Amino acid sequence: SYCSRIIGTGSHLPDQVVTNEQLAETIDTSDDWIVDRTGIRERRIAREGETTSVLAFQAAENALEAAGISAKDLDLVIVATTTPDNTFPSTATKVQAMLGMEGGAAFDIQAVCSGFVYALAVADNFIRAGQAKTVLVIGAEVMSRILDWSDRGTCVLFGDGAGAVVVQAEEVGAGEPVGILSTHLHSDGKLRDLLYVDGGPGTNKQVGHLRMLGREVFRHAVTNLASVVVEALSANGYTQSDIDWLVPHQANKRILDGTARKLGLREDQVVITVERHANTSAASVPLALDEAVRDGRIQKGQLVLMEAMGGGLTWGAALVRW
Ligand code: ACO
Repeated sequence: SYCSRIIGTGSHLPDQVVTNEQLAETIDTSDDWIVDRTGIRERRIAREGETTSVLAFQAAENALEAAGISAKDLDLVIVATTTPDNTFPSTATKVQAMLGMEGGAAFDIQAVCSGFVYALAVADNFIRAGQAKTVLVIGAEVMSRILDWSDRGTCVLFGDGAGAVVVQAEEVGAGEPVGILSTHLHSDGKLRDLLYVDGGPGTNKQVGHLRMLGREVFRHAVTNLASVVVEALSANGYTQSDIDWLVPHQANKRILDGTARKLGLREDQVVITVERHANTSAASVPLALDEAVRDGRIQKGQLVLMEAMGGGLTWGAALVRW
């Protein structure tokens, strides 16, 4: 039987930095308000032509290089995104072509901010089932394209970017389990109106804009995240004190602090990028993961917990022995 190992990580950010002060030039907000409520200081915003597939492709190339393999070794590409280049075909098929792949399969996953954790779960299950050997999992977003730039309650919170991992099958050995130990997914569609886009084929608008009841989302976030983390740990016989690194979805510094406090984790065990990236939806977990792998914080043998929550509501976690 097989388990899945993450053998390489990569990421890519647009070069355009937009600070809180710059936003305060066009909307009624301030650096103080944004930093105090969210911890966000700046975000990257894609330029014209810098679409989700473009960011995803760069992150993918990065991850393939880190893994030391080429695109022809892949048999599956999964892109988690809520801002696809087009309604169809999937952004994953565009990335497949950009990578020059001749075979394999490619599809998108839509779970908004939880998209990367969902996609990682799908990749892990394909590998465990023996249906794929080497899978590229990407979270990529241009949230700036679905924001209402006149709504100060939402437009200050998001940014653009992409992160990717290469996941590969490995024969299960005799020792302690390694790689992706388990994944845990949840959703509650009754709460879909807390966070949604008011456009799309089922509406009378085209792309539409992101709408959010921020307080309500916040309330559910800390509770759901803490509970899915505990679920992931206990499924593997671990407790909070076994965690080396928490790699959370980066929505808001207050949600991160609240979750860490609830779990009894120290701040220096939590990978935090929200002050520089803001909320990049499905890209935030792989962006944070890549940063902590590249700067040497995450080391082989450590226990890494990824978690996320987003529109749907959807939430989930993945526990990895690195
Ligand atoms: N600048 C200045 N003032 C603002 C801004 C802004 N950018 N945005 C809102 N305000 C004002 C409001 O108009 C309101 O003013 P009023 O009292 O005169 O009506 C006041 O600030 C308070 O607004 P609230 O929305 O109640 O502020 P709150 O303290 O709840 O903070 C926030 C808002 C930061 C959105 C918070 O609710 C939050 O973090 N929610 C979590 C949502 C989230 O992170 N979602 C991300 C997607 S989901 C996910 O990824 C988990």
